[in-house]
Amino acid sequence: MSPQTGRHSFLVVANRLPCRRAADAWRASPGGLVATLAPVATRHSAGWIGWSGIADDDTDPGEHAGMTLIPVRLSAAEVTAHYEGFANSTIWPLYHDNVIAPRFSRSWWESHQQVNRRFAEAVAASAAPGARVWVHDYQLQLVPQMVRRLRPDVRIGFFCHIPFPPVGLFAQLPWRAEVLSGLLGADVIGFQRRADVENFTAACIRLLGIDPRAEGRIVEAYPVSVDSAHITALARDAERQDEPERIRADLGDPQTVLLGIDRLDHTKGILERLLAVEELFDTGALDPVTTRLVQIAVPSREAIPAYRDLRAEVERTVGRINGKFAGLGGASIHYLHRDYPFESVVAWYLAADVLLATSLRDGMNLVAKEYVAARRGRGGVLVLSEFAGAADELTEALIVNPHDRDALGAAITRAVRMESGGAHTRIEAMAATVADRSLCAWATRFLDDLESVSPAALTVPPE
Ligand code: G6P
Repeated sequence: MSPQTGRHSFLVVANRLPCRRAADAWRASPGGLVATLAPVATRHSAGWIGWSGIADDDTDPGEHAGMTLIPVRLSAAEVTAHYEGFANSTIWPLYHDNVIAPRFSRSWWESHQQVNRRFAEAVAASAAPGARVWVHDYQLQLVPQMVRRLRPDVRIGFFCHIPFPPVGLFAQLPWRAEVLSGLLGADVIGFQRRADVENFTAACIRLLGIDPRAEGRIVEAYPVSVDSAHITALARDAERQDEPERIRADLGDPQTVLLGIDRLDHTKGILERLLAVEELFDTGALDPVTTRLVQIAVPSREAIPAYRDLRAEVERTVGRINGKFAGLGGASIHYLHRDYPFESVVAWYLAADVLLATSLRDGMNLVAKEYVAARRGRGGVLVLSEFAGAADELTEALIVNPHDRDALGAAITRAVRMESGGAHTRIEAMAATVADRSLCAWATRFLDDLESVSPAALTVPPE
């Protein structure tokens, strides 16, 4: 049987399309994955297979920003069971060290398999003979093996943007063998950190008795990066328009601006950060009048009860802290529950003396890399969680255990008091690291590896 083929020689496959049509314009989808991949997909004139973010949406494929967007339809029931359920209430917490308890549901798993199959069928129908197919992230781990069965002629890469957990945690998943087999359908399997590669390898050996590097498969760490040159250009524009000064003036010209920018997610450690700052105000280590903490919390996964609970708790905590410390000059904590275009985010970076990237667990944390790229030549201090992938590379940050309130408080105080020479040296070293390992180099390295393997060599593990 000759398989049905399509016209795309390069396909990106991700749960979400890179953008969605808002009232009158295209808006970028949230999160690091889209920020990373959209420029790569544009450069390669890729086809991008993904969900529009709206249940029961029948939008047709279309061209946008040099890519072809190929929507996969999800019903309302699948949004609940596959997206909110299996992807974000089972796999997401499990892969982030059980930051909240993962929930295991057989009906979610059924739906997850069905949706992954629909993605695989879309790939099979869209890929040109011998195409390169790059599948992304934890929502689509079954797709590589399904595509391999439908289209043995294509090369399949898989990149996991989030951590891969230690086997002791991963083993809790009732469908652990199926998930590993799904991933092993890929020719190249990439993770953010060496530790993720080791965890995945250990899981394959312990749970399947398979060495994932057998048969020429490549399993590697490809730490994701940001477009440093683009950020530098945006920073220059923001300065030309005096945006950082305007932001600081709007904040009441405080001595120190601390900044957190995160999706409103348990993994990001927003509550732990707020409590550490509260304690510093309580003890007088930080002055609530001359210090402002700006916490931008990008709305995320709001239909999931645990996310709604987190939002309520964050907002209660902000209210309590401001109730205690706000003066007539304004609140000590500026909490902004909304999404900002990237140009504005860069202006926030420039207005902030200290960035608090203190996630409890994070595949990479691109915000940390964006901050140091934006601050090149300008100083500023990065407080970074040791549990973020970025800590492997940004070693000149103030690296901290965000679960340890004393240590977190001490790191924030140290950041605020750091003399500017020291801060400059650290930022320059980190900005150079980020500039050296560009986003473009990341994609090229992965895709070169994908080019180097021969797809026919792999046997497909049983489904
Ligand atoms: C993280 C994940 C992405 C995800 C994004 C936004 O960056 O790695 O796969 O798309 O969060 O989350 P959402 O559930 O809104 O797609």
